[in-house]
Amino acid sequence: MPAVLISRLFPEPVMVEMARRFTLLGRPQDCPATRETLLEQVPQADALAVTLADRVDAGLLAKASRLKVVAVYAVGYNNVDMAAAAARGIVVTNTPDVLTEATADLTWGLILAVTRRIPEGDRLVREGRWAGWAPTQLLGSDVHGKTLGVVGMGRIGRAVARRAAGFAMSVIYHSRHPLSSEEEEALNVSRVPLPQLLQTADIVSIHTPLTEGTRHFIGKAELARMRRTAYLINTARGPVVDEAALAEAMAQGRLAGAGLDVYEDEPRVHPRLLGLSNVVLLPHIGSATYETRVKMGMMVVENITAALAGKEPPNRVSA
Ligand code: DGY
Repeated sequence: MPAVLISRLFPEPVMVEMARRFTLLGRPQDCPATRETLLEQVPQADALAVTLADRVDAGLLAKASRLKVVAVYAVGYNNVDMAAAAARGIVVTNTPDVLTEATADLTWGLILAVTRRIPEGDRLVREGRWAGWAPTQLLGSDVHGKTLGVVGMGRIGRAVARRAAGFAMSVIYHSRHPLSSEEEEALNVSRVPLPQLLQTADIVSIHTPLTEGTRHFIGKAELARMRRTAYLINTARGPVVDEAALAEAMAQGRLAGAGLDVYEDEPRVHPRLLGLSNVVLLPHIGSATYETRVKMGMMVVENITAALAGKEPPNRVSA
C-alpha cells in the first residue's frame, strides 16, 4: 500500500478510510505536526495530506524524494509553494465546492453577530450583568434592506450573495472575474469598482483567495474609504486584510465593527483587536461542520488515490 503522511488527525470516518487505503506514516495527532516531524517523515511518503496551517515550501519538498501528490485539506492552497511543487512534478490538490455553503453560513453568522452585537449580549447574560430589558440596551444596526458589498465573487462570494436576498439587501460586488449578465440577474447583483463598493456598502465581506496580488488588498486606504457606519467581514484569508491597519481604523472608530474568522498570522490575533467589543473574533471555523469536514477529507482521499494511480485527480490545482 502507498505510504501517506497526514499532518494531523482528520475526522474519524476520514481516518478510517485513509487507513483502509493507505499505510499511514507516524501517528497523526489532534495538533499540528511539527516542522521536524514533517521533515523527518516526508522522505518515506508517496502522498502528503496537509492542512492550511502546514507550510509546504521548497525546503520540505526537497526532502520528498518519492512524493507524487500534496493533497490540501482546504480550498485555499496558499500554504504550498506551487512553483517548487511544479518543478518536482508533484501534483497539488484542494477541496473546493463542499465547503462553500458552510463557509457562507458562517459568514452570515459573523454578519449577524457583529451588527446585532450577539457575543456582547451573551457575555452580559452569562456574566450576570443583565439588569433586564431596556430601550437603549445593546443597540445594533439593521441588516435587512442594507447594502452588502462582496469582494471576490467566486463560489463562496456567490453563496453569500444568494443569502442576502432573504434579508432584502442590495448586493454589489467587485471581482477580477465578472459574472455573466445572466448570472448577475439571477443573483440580483451588480458589479462596481472597488472604491465605489467600499464607499457604498454597509457590510463589506471578503471572499477573494490569497495570492501575491491580494495580500493586503484591504489596507489603510481601502479602510479609509469605508463608511463610519460600515462593517468589515473576513472569512477568506487573513493576509487579504492589513490587520494592523484594521486595528488602527477600529481603535479610531473609523468603522462600526468587524467580524473576522481568519488572521494574518494564525493563531496570533493583533492584540489591539482583542480588546475591542465591536470586533467579533472566531477561530477559523468557516468550514467547521462535521458534514463538511468529512466531505473535505473524503475528497483528500480520492485526490490521493487518483494521483497515486497515475490518474488525473478530481481537484488538481495549479499556480
Ligand atoms: C479553506 O478551505 O480554505 C478554509 O479556510 C478551511 O476552513
